[in-house]
Amino acid sequence: MLNTPTLDARRDSRSAAGLVRRWRQASDPQELAGVYDELHVAGPLVPTPWNALLVTGYEDCRQVFADRTWLTLSARWRDAHRPGWRASASTVALCETPLQQDPPEHTKRRSPLTAALAPRAVRAAAELVGPLAAEHVRAFADRVRRDGAADLVPALCHPLPTAVLAGLLGLPPEVDRAWLAAESVAMVRVEELGSPPSVVRRADEAAAAQLACYDRVLAERAGRPAGDLLSRWAAEDPAGARHLLLTLFSAGVPTTAALLASLALALSTRPGLGERTRQEPDFADRLTDEVLRWDPPGRVVTRVAAADTELGGRALPAGQVVHALLGAAHRDPRLFKDPHTFDPYRDPHRLLAFGAGLHYCLGAHLARTQATAFLRLFARELPGARLAGAPVRQPGPSMTDITRLPITLS
Ligand code: HEM
Repeated sequence: MLNTPTLDARRDSRSAAGLVRRWRQASDPQELAGVYDELHVAGPLVPTPWNALLVTGYEDCRQVFADRTWLTLSARWRDAHRPGWRASASTVALCETPLQQDPPEHTKRRSPLTAALAPRAVRAAAELVGPLAAEHVRAFADRVRRDGAADLVPALCHPLPTAVLAGLLGLPPEVDRAWLAAESVAMVRVEELGSPPSVVRRADEAAAAQLACYDRVLAERAGRPAGDLLSRWAAEDPAGARHLLLTLFSAGVPTTAALLASLALALSTRPGLGERTRQEPDFADRLTDEVLRWDPPGRVVTRVAAADTELGGRALPAGQVVHALLGAAHRDPRLFKDPHTFDPYRDPHRLLAFGAGLHYCLGAHLARTQATAFLRLFARELPGARLAGAPVRQPGPSMTDITRLPITLS
């Protein structure tokens, strides 16, 4: 089967380009569902006009995560293939996170996060998340009752995961949480394929502002240790610590915020989910899984082949860039029966929402804990929550990025 293209080059290059264009113009999961269907029909690997391939199926996406042939678009790769890329401060900053690194750099940057964050995250999940989620949900419910409606994104989706990470690290209270959340979200928007210059400029400013802030707090903690994670990182590796902070906020805030918004959207638009969340002890976990399948916060992971390899029944040369479409993988009919049916009771499958293999998400447990705590509180404090207007999304198919979610009570 090797080298048998599923899209005949002559016949279909134009239709593939049209399909890729439709994919790039979609951002709503409903809209994307139709495009994912077309992509599955077009084949496991769909060529893009920029010489990359979209990987559409679940097993192939999983292989891209698991197979060590597939490397990140690291600083080394960009130096060789993307002249001028260092002009973007946000891309440079993201290449200092393990997300855009391969061994040995990856191992070095990931290990302090694994060592320090994993045990603390488990404790934090119990000690921090419950009270913070309760405080945020109750304040939001009061506001909705007082004003008739309120936007959940700035009031809760951004601040809650920021407050959790700030608590975990021991970030001083003078660092404005709302500001930090907005900067974290603005920075990762550089990852959307073909971001316009205004988005890249804003992302670059956000990277520089965050790093300046982290340098200030690390210098302060180096001078006056406070027995927290921040102080430990400031003492152990002052130069690397700024990148650890940037990793946590850029990997943890936009993703968790997207999940919280998608969960609230589900509760506010699908009758019966709130009641089941209140009645059934494990329903919050099921609903979280189904929302992560339906619309994963990160929908695309990009890799490059380090050597000649095979994927989707084709031989691919070293240097081939692929975009693994997690969103499409989660709608793969070979794995998910009736993939466009929203069903929290479906059999649990190995979701790819938190990745797999070497780069598997270090914050998965923390994110899930926030999601289920939020769901239970939201269902209890805001029974009868409804949308007060259409949700607004940042354009682009690569990430779930809900910028406005007005909620009212029926
Ligand atoms: C719903 C929330 C979240 C989702 C959907 C998510 C998703 C992901 C995915 C897909 C990856 C792998 C990316 C790749 O292979 O290129 C990843 C990696 C990572 N995530 Fe998360 N994440 C979430 C929350 C968090 C949180 C709360 C934290 C921090 C506390 C975090 C920290 C990380 C880190 C440090 C990595 C990089 C691991 C590495 O490259 O070795 N994530 N995440």
